[in-house]
Amino acid sequence: RGLGQDPSDSPRLKIPHVSPPSLKTHPSCHQGSFPFYRLPSELGFFSLDEKRCYHGDGRRLRYLSLPVGMDSGGASLGWDLMDGFEDRYVRRNEDEKEGLLHLLTWVKENRGLLRANGRSDSGRLVDRDFVSWRGHLTKILCTPYETQEGWILAVTLFKGTLYISERETAASYKRRKERTREQEKLMYSGYKFESHLCADSPDGSPCPSEVVNTNEAFCSVLLGRLASHSFLVSGEVDCKDPSSSNPSPPSCYVELKTSAQMRSPHQERSFHRYKLLKWWCQSFLLGIPLIVAGFRNPQGRIVSLEKFRTSAIPQLVRGDRQSWDPAVCMNFCNAFLSHIKKVVTTDDPRVVFVFSWEPGQDVTCTVEADSDHLVVPEWYVQALSQ
Ligand code: A3P
Ligand code: MG
Ligand code: MG
Repeated sequence: RGLGQDPSDSPRLKIPHVSPPSLKTHPSCHQGSFPFYRLPSELGFFSLDEKRCYHGDGRRLRYLSLPVGMDSGGASLGWDLMDGFEDRYVRRNEDEKEGLLHLLTWVKENRGLLRANGRSDSGRLVDRDFVSWRGHLTKILCTPYETQEGWILAVTLFKGTLYISERETAASYKRRKERTREQEKLMYSGYKFESHLCADSPDGSPCPSEVVNTNEAFCSVLLGRLASHSFLVSGEVDCKDPSSSNPSPPSCYVELKTSAQMRSPHQERSFHRYKLLKWWCQSFLLGIPLIVAGFRNPQGRIVSLEKFRTSAIPQLVRGDRQSWDPAVCMNFCNAFLSHIKKVVTTDDPRVVFVFSWEPGQDVTCTVEADSDHLVVPEWYVQALSQ
């Protein structure tokens, strides 16, 4: 039901007869100096329990507990990340598409924190230009350098705020359904790594034999700004460093990552070009300053740990002319958010603007006038309209 094709279908909407403009994604179109980006500030958080139920508290926040000797490089590791894959693994149901559900639940319960203040009263229910998940913004940031996977981002304007939610592409659905056992194991290993480094209390110890349940999460909700765009963003946080020199979030948060051990300059180069791009985008967006990485050998055992300061990552790739430039990522994001503001002008929760992108092409857009896949669900419209 693309409205762009037959606007006469829905006379109540003012949709232009011409199709919305497209947006270029090539890095050369987005070079320049780094745009203004304010360190996000945490407004709240929530947790998802082992059954994926929402709780408006920090019960699933975990605490970093590094092995003794890590800093001196003397830690004896060898952690088996495949342990428990057969018998202690509860997988989140990826067929259940949650969209913005948990984030909107948080907004509903905390809308007093988001109202426009008296002086700059914009009349908006949520005084932000955009609301989205960090994961969606990460995909936007990586777009100029992405050569494999396209994306679909659905956008709705509701009472002055743009809500961005991802839709699974046909290709990524297919890839998910055709995942091999080896790929499943690799996914599991990323979570298992967390079991080795996270404790339930600041002075507790990790329990590496625990059941891995990917329904569980602690999510921070933050206010951010990129150039002229204000946003509310939420993302999963792996753990908090109880010994952080700056105890206030997001500066005390830590991201955990795994990667294959590097054995050649070629592997090292591709780690810098592809992995560090994603790691940097993901952590930079929320203002998470530290990434603890575990490198695994071909047998799936962790052989070394390394700390990466998020702010130092761009320097690691600067020497490689074929690598990525953080300014391009941020400038593209800035351009895309401006593009959304220009294209999405119908303020109606039933109207969804669908932005699609495939590597090598421009971002295009279609409009669904009375969408079957809403970005902003009815319960949210009801709750906020009261
Ligand atoms: P690694 O990133 O160490 O591989 P996150 O790092 O974002 O906290 O995610 C934790 C783990 O979830 C990842 O660990 C990985 O195992 C799995 N995971 C996250 N996103 C994924 C994706 N898009 N595809 C496959 N696995 C993913
Ligand atoms: Mg995580
Ligand atoms: Mg992680």
